[in-house]
Amino acid sequence: MDIPWWRDAVVYEIYVRSFADASGDGVGDLAGVRERLPYLRELGVDAIWLTPFYPSPMADGGYDVADYRGVDPMFGTLSDFDALVAGAHDHGLRVVVDIVPNHSSSAHPWFQAALRGEGRERYLFRDRTNNWQSTFGGSAWTQVEDGQHYLHLFAPEQPDFNWRNPEVHAEFLDILRFWLDRGVDGFRIDVAMGLYKAEGLPDVGDQSFKATSPVWGQPEVHGVYREWRKVLDGYPGERMAVGEVWTDSSEDLALYVRPDELHQSFNFAWLQAPWSAPAFRKVIDDTLSTVPFATWVLSNHDVVRHRTRYAADDPVTGLERAKAALLTMLALPGSAYLYQGEELGLPEVNDLPDAARQDPVFFQSKGELPGRDGCRVPIPWTVDPPSHGFAPGGVRPWLPQPAAFAELSVEKQEGDAGSTLEFYRRALACRRDLARSIPYTLEWLKSPEGVLFFTRGPLICALNCGARPVRLPEHDEVLLASGPLRGDLLPPDTAVWLRRAS
Ligand code: GLC
Repeated sequence: MDIPWWRDAVVYEIYVRSFADASGDGVGDLAGVRERLPYLRELGVDAIWLTPFYPSPMADGGYDVADYRGVDPMFGTLSDFDALVAGAHDHGLRVVVDIVPNHSSSAHPWFQAALRGEGRERYLFRDRTNNWQSTFGGSAWTQVEDGQHYLHLFAPEQPDFNWRNPEVHAEFLDILRFWLDRGVDGFRIDVAMGLYKAEGLPDVGDQSFKATSPVWGQPEVHGVYREWRKVLDGYPGERMAVGEVWTDSSEDLALYVRPDELHQSFNFAWLQAPWSAPAFRKVIDDTLSTVPFATWVLSNHDVVRHRTRYAADDPVTGLERAKAALLTMLALPGSAYLYQGEELGLPEVNDLPDAARQDPVFFQSKGELPGRDGCRVPIPWTVDPPSHGFAPGGVRPWLPQPAAFAELSVEKQEGDAGSTLEFYRRALACRRDLARSIPYTLEWLKSPEGVLFFTRGPLICALNCGARPVRLPEHDEVLLASGPLRGDLLPPDTAVWLRRAS
């Protein structure tokens, strides 16, 4: 069997409103992405994933969709979308779009009709509520004028659909076809484990993402993905779907990627693992023993950037670890998802002024939680303020960039062999040469405490999470290291790719 493109693909997440603004309104857009396609090709990724660009009141950065078949004027037009897909394909890049099936925006015509008392069975209206909480804080129920309440697992502006209603199924099959007909190569499925809720909506003690929760991961959800898989398989060109599945068990995760369901699901256990060799090793073993096609991800638009996560108070160590984790991730069997800006070594921006914050998490927690804006600060392309090349001329970006972004800009890093950007380019180029010629399987080699050595055919990857330098495993050639080696020693917070002849 031919290996499908997505099996070892490196997919680059574009948080559209923060990537590049061509129109000059301070918000990123589709035309901005199109202008940067040469950059993405040069970076060496295989595909881009676009976060929602659909018409939306932006209560949750576009994850509140008012029209599933359009483009918000803030992001452009459908022709801009078509031009972007065509341009991406010309650059050898596949395009994955985000689909948000758990909830719509409260501005969606179906919800507006429901407020008028028409078609409430498309959502989850009840006379009485239960004790469920919104993921963003506060009750998961909002009362409407006539006294009924509707369920929203996220913001009140994001009412949950009733997936027990066949009309919802039909609508989403049509939406998938709409975008597949326009040439998309795949879908990223938002809150993929959310769609069904346990019958009777029982109260819960603990609302975290658990395989056994009545809120998440009900068995009926798998029927949806079987329907979707048939649609995807009906199109030529290996169209795929990757699920955003938060759960506490790798066995549960594996259910979503059975052969007749989704092609991939995000592996958040990898991103949640602390900076620790045994923790990393456990996730790798659990993943490879449970799912047929592994994926790996370190950062996305919902979590603290991994440079900051690995060493909150020490940006230098944070960056060393971030690069070492990247090199390790790229050596693992399966596909890798990158988040825009990690190739520049961007940190989480923790000191955004409250007045600038836009994430509903900040508002629903009444300012107790900072929310996710800190990983969504627009990309610095050049050294020049006020937007560092993110927007034209003197336009200010929708979130302020810290002054330190000038030093981290693409302009500053391009061509500097010691920069994070050039390191990413080298790593992705090296991986591209290797990925399909080495076995999908991985073998562990004996290693000192706090260190991982594994091999895939001729490739050896070594990662030092410990406090002391360790001797490199036997090898014939050093391919690439995330930081300087000391002779035959691998320093702490460093990873290396080695080749051995046999
Ligand atoms: C997903 C998205 C996140 C959004 C939430 C609700 O987790 O990644 O950004 O807030 O779903 O749609």
